[in-house]
Amino acid sequence: MKNINHLKRVSDNANNRYLLYDENDNIINIPESIAIILDGNGRYAKKKGLPRELGHKAGCEALEVILEEAVSIGVKYLTVYAFSTENWKRSENEINALFNLFFLYLGKIEEKAIKNNVKVNFIGDIYKFPKKLYTECERLINITKDNTRCVFSIAFNYGSRDEIVRTIKKMASNNFDFNNITEKDITNNLDTKDIKDPDLLIRTSGEFRLSNFLLWQIAYSEIYITNVLWPEFDKEEFYKALIDYNKRDRRFGGRKEK
Ligand code: FPP
Repeated sequence: MKNINHLKRVSDNANNRYLLYDENDNIINIPESIAIILDGNGRYAKKKGLPRELGHKAGCEALEVILEEAVSIGVKYLTVYAFSTENWKRSENEINALFNLFFLYLGKIEEKAIKNNVKVNFIGDIYKFPKKLYTECERLINITKDNTRCVFSIAFNYGSRDEIVRTIKKMASNNFDFNNITEKDITNNLDTKDIKDPDLLIRTSGEFRLSNFLLWQIAYSEIYITNVLWPEFDKEEFYKALIDYNKRDRRFGGRKEK
């Protein structure tokens, strides 16, 4: 048992995870599906007087820690926004630095995925990335495909609107009967078809926007925004988001009978 940020972390061997309790010994309910907008690497670099690439490197390191922590407390789906369809507007230098970092850190994610029984998945059109990078993505998908403890999805060249357009084109090319379309048909054809809709969406660095991330999927997600920059988002900050989530009253549009 270990105390972090007034929380008790107790081993639950039967279920291969840790249970979290708050200072009043109430169990903290862990969202099954969490999505994160990783923002603030550039501001972190500026704050520390570092080149932007080193801000992104620090962001990769923060992600490794949060991935392992999320898996250890029983999160079943973790989805992170790593490169958007709008990020192509950045300088060629920054994009290349990001691609090099992604390549390097996918190796570290592979280690963590194998050690922790995590299935790695990608959403977005990875085939617009350099071949060396998308081949590495395919290799990770393949090598972790039978893992069952958590699905870790990385959004690479992802934009929600682009996803919806690609989905409709794919359905049309399969002669889908659009007159009888249902919400389920759309859900089942999106890049996220294997991911439960997020229970909790976290955004770091204090911006109050969705930036074209999972627009269909977050219809009923709880949103948590923190001013903390992504590279400084550590386990304690993660727990703060979970504690805040536990205070929410999720009604999904209905009302609670008193
Ligand atoms: C936004 O910060 C962040 C990104 C564009 C990149 C996020 C990627 C990672 C943290 C690494 C993910 C790694 C893998 C292997 C999946 P920003 O540059 O927009 O920050 P700013 O708004 O402060 O300038």
